Amino acid sequence: MTLKVERAVPERDAAPISRLINICRDERRTVLDAYTPESEREYLESMGSREVVYVAHVDGEFAGFAGVAPRYGYSERLRHCGEGGTWVMPEMRGRGVGSALWREGILPFCVETSFRHVGAFVMAHNKDAIAFYESLGFHVCGFHRRLVDWDGELLDAVEIEKWLD
Ligand SMILES: CC(C)(COP(=O)(O)OP(=O)(O)OC[C@H]1O[C@@H](n2cnc3c(N)ncnc32)[C@H](O)[C@@H]1OP(=O)(O)O)[C@@H](O)C(=O)NCCC(=O)NCCS
Repeated sequence: MTLKVERAVPERDAAPISRLINICRDERRTVLDAYTPESEREYLESMGSREVVYVAHVDGEFAGFAGVAPRYGYSERLRHCGEGGTWVMPEMRGRGVGSALWREGILPFCVETSFRHVGAFVMAHNKDAIAFYESLGFHVCGFHRRLVDWDGELLDAVEIEKWLD
């Protein structure tokens, strides 16, 4: 198996990324809004210098993506804080794709970009994702009761974090 991690190419990757977001929405594993290939491409083309999306291909086939961006754009004092996320195609999970996206893409980018703290929240029922982030050295540092409005049902979420120094 060849696993390649590289920065997203808007023209090539917008359509598979938007498809994967919709799959994860159907699975109740992501709070991301739905993107069309066009709106995802616009997003990828408009990213600033402190945000990035990496994609992974397994044997040439789109396998997943991960991203990081400033978490608190309103404060210089929180400039060192990023927020990340990871999404892998269901049939590609459990094969090291998510880990490779972070180890080869997101974490080196965080160091280059002077993010010293990376955080995210994960819906509390998404145990696979919590275990995944823990495998990368994140730990659960908080609990949000009834944070996510899922069509009127309020779902709990856990806050996770990793210090890079
Ligand atoms: C969470 C997710 C990104 C993990 O990606 P992945 O490519 O399957 O993860 P990896 O194969 O790199 O796994 C790395 C480690 O994470 C842990 N892990 C991953 N999936 C796991 C699971 N289902 N159960 C328990 N541990 C798991 C393991 O420690 C694993 O190491 P191991 O294979 O040596 O045991 C993937 O399941 C996914 O896309 N889920 C849907 C979207 C989502 O929930 N995203 C997170 C919210 S933003």
